[in-house]
Amino acid sequence: MSFKEQFLWGASSAAYQIEGGFDADGKGPGIWDALGHKPGRIARGESGDIACDHYHRYQEDVALMKEIGLKHYRFSISWPRIMPKGTGETNPKGLEFYSNLVDELLAAGIEPMVTLYHWNMPYALFQQGGWLHPDSSCWFEEYVSQVVSTLGSRVRLWLTFNEPQMFMFLGYQMGVHAPFEHYSDEQLLAMTRNILLAHGKAVKVIRKALGDRALISFSPTGDTFVPAEETPEAIQAAYDKSLSMGEQFIFSNTWWADPVFFGRFPQEAHDRFGDRMISFSEEEWALVTQKLDFFSYNIYQSMASFGPHGLENPEYEYPGCPMTTANWCVVPECLYWSARFWSERYQLPVFVTENGVSLMDWVSLDGAVHDPLRIDFLARYLGCLKRAADEGIDLMGYTYWNIMDECEWAGGYKDRYGLIHVDFRTLKRTIKDSGHWYRRVIETNGEELPSYREAAQM
Ligand code: BGC
Repeated sequence: MSFKEQFLWGASSAAYQIEGGFDADGKGPGIWDALGHKPGRIARGESGDIACDHYHRYQEDVALMKEIGLKHYRFSISWPRIMPKGTGETNPKGLEFYSNLVDELLAAGIEPMVTLYHWNMPYALFQQGGWLHPDSSCWFEEYVSQVVSTLGSRVRLWLTFNEPQMFMFLGYQMGVHAPFEHYSDEQLLAMTRNILLAHGKAVKVIRKALGDRALISFSPTGDTFVPAEETPEAIQAAYDKSLSMGEQFIFSNTWWADPVFFGRFPQEAHDRFGDRMISFSEEEWALVTQKLDFFSYNIYQSMASFGPHGLENPEYEYPGCPMTTANWCVVPECLYWSARFWSERYQLPVFVTENGVSLMDWVSLDGAVHDPLRIDFLARYLGCLKRAADEGIDLMGYTYWNIMDECEWAGGYKDRYGLIHVDFRTLKRTIKDSGHWYRRVIETNGEELPSYREAAQM
């Protein structure tokens, strides 16, 4: 066995990170637009104001995606682009942009995958309390209805939230991402409640409009532990650790996935919060647990813990170990173990909706962008994913992050993830060597990837 014939190879992006056009054609400000400009918030005073200017250059970008041979492209909708104040009036130009993008993709033979929330909440809604407001799930429902009525007939693949773990942790706990807040546990619990309801309402809207034609999920992230050796005991230990809530409850897998898929929070959450724990009525649980069609998740490395110097990866970090420019350890096996653990736990096909590597790429003297480390990274990670396919684990797709170099949120433009290089002075695009290499992987459906044994040997 190997990857299924209909396996969806693709690449991903997010609106704020590539679109630019931050105030073009009636777009309203999102929290990143309104709050990111303050000195010290985004590295070197950079911003997503222009980014890759994908808003104006999407046709060129889709042509490049076609050249790479993508089967699907995951992108997010900017809520303030289509509803400048978040609710009420819509912006026809904003809707038209996404409608044109979807047409362009379909004409190129690339399946669109829509993420509804990739972090840039309309600023007007944040000013009213944002995700703490009891009406926030209704605001989201109204926005999703607009998107579905515009794109629903042409889009099959839907994701509600991207990484609630990350935007809550970085934006509302650590204060290093927009809206740069430090919420208490009580506030984070209230926010979780509203986000889970918003997720459920969104699924209901999509399902009502599209029925079983829609394939819906959300994209959490979290730590997957790799067993120290392949004995039943070590595998069980790694699995149990991957489910545990650890220190940062909002960062864990089970805090988000268990309520959505099982209709209950992990026992650990009840033990920790006691009476303060979130409660839902029966009707609300019915919303939260709307049927999903696959289990998608984003994964870049194996477990990470928070040590005195920030993120630490004690099992993989050693002097001079392989690392990305984001200081993330290279752990290819995490793609195999996450696929195995999550398909076992949630009993659904799994879809990797983000995985990738940040490097310092530049255009060489010969005009090409040579990125052998990204090719090696991909060969190793995908080689490990292939083991999951070979063992018959139900895999739906793999989405490389990012299709092109992008604004890495508070990190600005230093870390480059793209398969396509962008010169941010001229906005010239160049497909990197890895983009050409990925084309071959897609064409051969992963047949030439290294074996797990080779790939995992770092
Ligand atoms: C996010 C992306 C981000 C990437 C690399 C993920 O957490 O979804 O928006 O660019 O990681 O940091």
